[in-house]
Amino acid sequence: MIEDGEEIPLVGGDVTEGLVRVGDTVRRPPGERDELVRDVLLHLEKVGFDGAPRYLGVDSAGREVLTYIDGEVAGRPRPPWIADEERALSLARLLRAYHDAVEGFGIPQNLPAPIEPPGLPELDDPPELIGHQDVTPENVVFRNGRAYALIDFDMLRPVSRAGEVVNLMLWWAPFGEDADLDPQFRGLDQPRRCRLLADAYGLEDPDRSRLIDLAIRRDERSWHTMKYRAEILGGGWQRMWSEGVGDKIRHRQTWLEKNAETITTALLA
Ligand SMILES: Nc1ncnc2c1ncn2[C@@H]1O[C@H](COP(=O)(O)OP(=O)(O)O)[C@@H](O)[C@H]1O
Ligand SMILES: [Mg+2]
Repeated sequence: MIEDGEEIPLVGGDVTEGLVRVGDTVRRPPGERDELVRDVLLHLEKVGFDGAPRYLGVDSAGREVLTYIDGEVAGRPRPPWIADEERALSLARLLRAYHDAVEGFGIPQNLPAPIEPPGLPELDDPPELIGHQDVTPENVVFRNGRAYALIDFDMLRPVSRAGEVVNLMLWWAPFGEDADLDPQFRGLDQPRRCRLLADAYGLEDPDRSRLIDLAIRRDERSWHTMKYRAEILGGGWQRMWSEGVGDKIRHRQTWLEKNAETITTALLA
């Protein structure tokens, strides 16, 4: 039985309006992929993966009910611990554990088409599992200085392991010029952190070789997709676009091209 109770707004995410905490649960308005999210969360529970909220059902208002996971989540301004190397590596291990747990779920046929602009070039990167695809600081719960759980499974989609490690590095190496990064993430040795993240994840050599090329091609698609989503969906997507996310992606691509060789050498050394 899902109880009603005092609703405390959860802020800090980018796009979900109306997200609230009620007791030890969170209530989410249905997202783009609610059936997939439900099925994946139920699968994770079945195989005993603890690093994700449990799916509890739907409440009287038609919202998804998940367990609230206690711990630290980075908001803004970013906390000083955000760039801690051990935290990032623990997240790489958690992501690997998530992949090992979700792999058996397979890739369902007939998933609803993602909201993408018509004519978007194919990525040519065969999916291997259902990836999280949004491993941002706001979407990770830490406990005792280690990544404890992934939250916000709204971007779930078929992806390759390499594609998911690109998303991990994008936020946690992180990818980009110091001037474009949060002050807490400036001055880091990004090639070294990429290497350590790849090692902690256990990424295979062929995936290391193609990682930066894949990152650049993913950014190309993401520029078009974010623009389209801002136009079609408005809300948080439009807000992110007006705040310059498109330019950020373009700068990042340039940075990736400039640093491709150094990072790939570090990944393979
Ligand atoms: N299951 C959960 N356990 C703990 N905190 C949560 C949970 N779900 C959401 N939150 C908190 O609410 C914030 C926004 O939720 P999120 O699901 O990431 O929404 P958005 O889609 O807007 O990014 C998160 O950054 C986190 O602080
Ligand atoms: Mg979020």
